[in-house]
Formats: sequence, structure tokens, C-alpha cells
Amino acid sequence: MFGHIVETRRKKTLADFRKMKEDGVPLSWITAYDYPLAQCAEAAGVDMILVGDSGGMTQLGYATTNPVTMDEMIVLAKAVRRGAPNTFIVGDMPQGSYEISVEEAVRNALRFIKEAGCDAIKCEGGIRVIDKVEAMVKAGIAVIGHLGLTPQSTVSFGGYKVQGKTPEGFKAIVEDALALQNGGVFCLLLEAMPTEPAGKLRDILHIPVYGIGAGKDVDGQLIIIHDLLGFYDAFRPYFAKCFVPTSIAGYLQHLAGNTNLPALGRKERSDGIGYLVVDVIKAYIQAVTFKKFPNAEYSYKMKEEELTILTSCEAWTRGYREF
Ligand code: KIV
Repeated sequence: MFGHIVETRRKKTLADFRKMKEDGVPLSWITAYDYPLAQCAEAAGVDMILVGDSGGMTQLGYATTNPVTMDEMIVLAKAVRRGAPNTFIVGDMPQGSYEISVEEAVRNALRFIKEAGCDAIKCEGGIRVIDKVEAMVKAGIAVIGHLGLTPQSTVSFGGYKVQGKTPEGFKAIVEDALALQNGGVFCLLLEAMPTEPAGKLRDILHIPVYGIGAGKDVDGQLIIIHDLLGFYDAFRPYFAKCFVPTSIAGYLQHLAGNTNLPALGRKERSDGIGYLVVDVIKAYIQAVTFKKFPNAEYSYKMKEEELTILTSCEAWTRGYREF
């Protein structure tokens, strides 16, 4: 694919994700919203792809994720499935598709599975949507929870703010996370949290806990592909690393080592951006696997005094069995 040798892999399963957590093998997860980027993600060997509603911003040009509709998500998810037939794909429930009623939540989640061929769905929120989560799980759908900064509710949060730093904030996330785990989600995604509270949640829960901007002490990482590629101009989260500078030397070397570029392009399409994108995703996977990303530069930090207050609060010291 784009000049890279790709072994055909077996699509990962929930059992694989549990085993990876048990064995301490970090999971590499990336978003994709279209056919070529999904092809690149699969060729690079990611464990999981999220068709995020962030695609409403990065791909469709909305200012936030709020306007994205279920029909738009289905178009994106179908294209991703066509590009990555052997990768575990997660459809992201857009705002309004799961909050109104249990029936609508199950119906829309099933659209991702039946129409787009997704393997699982993700939705934002904990206790406030637990009846919907339980109903989707009961319908046989694999569900991922999403806590911390949940972009669909940024207005209620007062903007894009780091979560889980205060005793109250941390307690609320622990209670939501335990409700989701009891409700049957197979893993949890934490967004925009400092390393310590995210790591503590990973220790509290028995399901895999992944992070996007939640530091290194979780079971795997998610990144938005446009951030990885430096391909979204409106906004770049503090925790997102563009891996193009890491991979560009190899790409230029590949071109320099080939004197007949027209022939190379006609034969294996490795003279262009596809080759580079696969390399960039590979660099990300390698950094996640060897626990080099996220390092301190791409992680939210807490002040010494904030950490002292947090680690002596009841939700931190009490032990999860009592919740
Ligand atoms: O839509 C998305 O890509 C997401 C991530 C920001 C977690 O939900």
C-alpha cells in the first residue's frame, strides 16, 4: 500500500484488547473519516480506528462537533470501513443521536453496526446517559465510554478545559467511570486530564482505559489524524503531536533513492503523500508502543499543591470497592 509492504492482519477483538491491558501492551488508536486515510491507518497497523464526530470539524468544516448528524457520520464510517476492512472500527455517536431516548440510542448505534459495518460505538458521558449505555449493551453492541473533556458539552464545561484535577471533579469522573464499567462498556476513553488522575482511574477500573491528552499512565492512546499530520489549521490541542517532522527525512530519502519517479508513481504510488502518511502513522504507533508518546511535553501537569490536595481527597484514598 503506497509502497509499504503490508501483512494481512486479523482484526483485533475485545479479547485482544483485554489481553493487551493484562500484558501491559499499549494500544494505538487513531481517527479516520475517509477512504484514503483509513487505508493508510490500516497499512500502518493501528489497533483501532475511531470515526470521530471530530470529523465534523476536520473533514466537514464545522466550527464544533455539535452540528454533525447521524447521516453524515454514516457516510464517513462507510468510507472508513471500505478503506480498512481488517481493522476494528468505532463509530462515534454524534450529539442528539443517543440522549433523547433509549430507543433512539439503540436505533442509531445499530445504524453504525448494520449500515456502516462498525465493530463498536462510542458515546460521551457517564451517569447521565447510563440507561442508554445499558440498553445498547443489552442490544449486543460493543460500547466505549468517553469521560473527562467531552467535546459535545464544551459549552457546559465553559470551554476546552482540563478535567479531573480537583477532588470534586475527580470524584465525579470516578463515579461516572464505575457506572459505565458496571453498565457494560468494554473500555473507557479519557480526554484532557493530567497524568496522575488518569493513571489512578486506570488502576481503579478493570476494563482498559485509553487516553487522548490523558498522559502516559493509561492502557493506550488515541490521536486525531489531522493533528498527527498537522492538517487542521483552526485549532491544535496542547497534547497533540504532529509526527510529520519525525518522518519527513525518511520520506525524502525514499524519494532521493529513486531516480525514476514517474515509474515509481505508476507502479506503487509511493511518490506522494500516501507514502508519507503511512510512515507518520507508523512513527506514532512506535512511539505509543514504546511509551515515548505522550511524554511530559504533551501531557497536562498539576502543581505540587494541587496534587497534594487531590491525592488526599476521599475519592482518591477510599478505594473503589466502597463506591
Ligand atoms: O470525535 C472524536 O474524535 C473524539 C475524540 C476527540 C476523543 O471523540
